[in-house]
Amino acid sequence: QKHLLGIEPLHPSEITTLLDLADQYVDLNRRDVKRSDALAGLTQINMFFENSTRTQASFELAGKRLGADVMNMSMQASSIKKGETLIDTAMTLNAMHPDLLVVRHPHSGAVDLLAQKVNCAVLNAGDGRHEHPTQALLDALTIRRAKGRLHRLSIAICGDIAHSRVARSNIMLLGKMENRIRLIGPPTLMPAGIEHFGVEVFEDMREGLKDVDVVMMLRLQKERMDGGFIPSEREYYHRYGLDAEKLGFAKPDAIVMHPGPMNRGVEIDGTLADDINRSVIQEQVEMGVAVRMAAMDLLARNLRTRVEGQGVYV
Ligand code: CP
Repeated sequence: QKHLLGIEPLHPSEITTLLDLADQYVDLNRRDVKRSDALAGLTQINMFFENSTRTQASFELAGKRLGADVMNMSMQASSIKKGETLIDTAMTLNAMHPDLLVVRHPHSGAVDLLAQKVNCAVLNAGDGRHEHPTQALLDALTIRRAKGRLHRLSIAICGDIAHSRVARSNIMLLGKMENRIRLIGPPTLMPAGIEHFGVEVFEDMREGLKDVDVVMMLRLQKERMDGGFIPSEREYYHRYGLDAEKLGFAKPDAIVMHPGPMNRGVEIDGTLADDINRSVIQEQVEMGVAVRMAAMDLLARNLRTRVEGQGVYV
């Protein structure tokens, strides 16, 4: 692949290759000296048009640990504020010869569009409600390490499915790896026609959680609700918030996941989120750095092959 724009175009073998490499980077990141020269001499620019803690910090750390020159664009202070378009901004940065461009944008499809205009590798750090590929990959690595495999698992994704790029990327990735996917949430937060994606849909949390191996919780994404139905947080927590009682319907060794940022007492009980016997939320964050290192390393290898073989990059 030239870019990492989504999970959709990835073959299961490419996912496995990336996760295997990420496993090696987990080991590197646990050493005292966290250094590799996989991206030495390359320039990485991070452009986040939407807020981020985990994704931005881990892409920055990933690039630095691999020896890249990393620049974080402050989009709030950029000429976007003077009316410059996304494409003109991207073309301007492209003229400075970056090798890797990491982009988060509130509009679905914006990152794909940008990738068509630049001649460096583009990584999608989340676009609207479309895709968040590195989140799905880090979730997959977390599951594989916790469960010892990434196939034939029963996985529940719960909450605001309709507005979630995390859910969309996970449904594709976990489906490609032949897992059983259950989506649980109120009908108002379930995308129309989602049953055609080979998933089971449940309105009742206890029914949906029955005997699952993995429980993945999602945040209510009010910023994408466009003034439509916004459930009362109290009522939502009562019906869909994960607590010890509802988790009791899953397998006794089921793991609890959340991509973050989480709203304690809305979609998840705070004590359960902190329970290291069930929750792998901190492991997800750790896997995020390793997965982003692996993704950029693999794209850089392609980049170097093209430069040496065909001179595509100038
Ligand atoms: N999971 C995730 O994308 O978190 P951030 O918005 O903090 O990057």
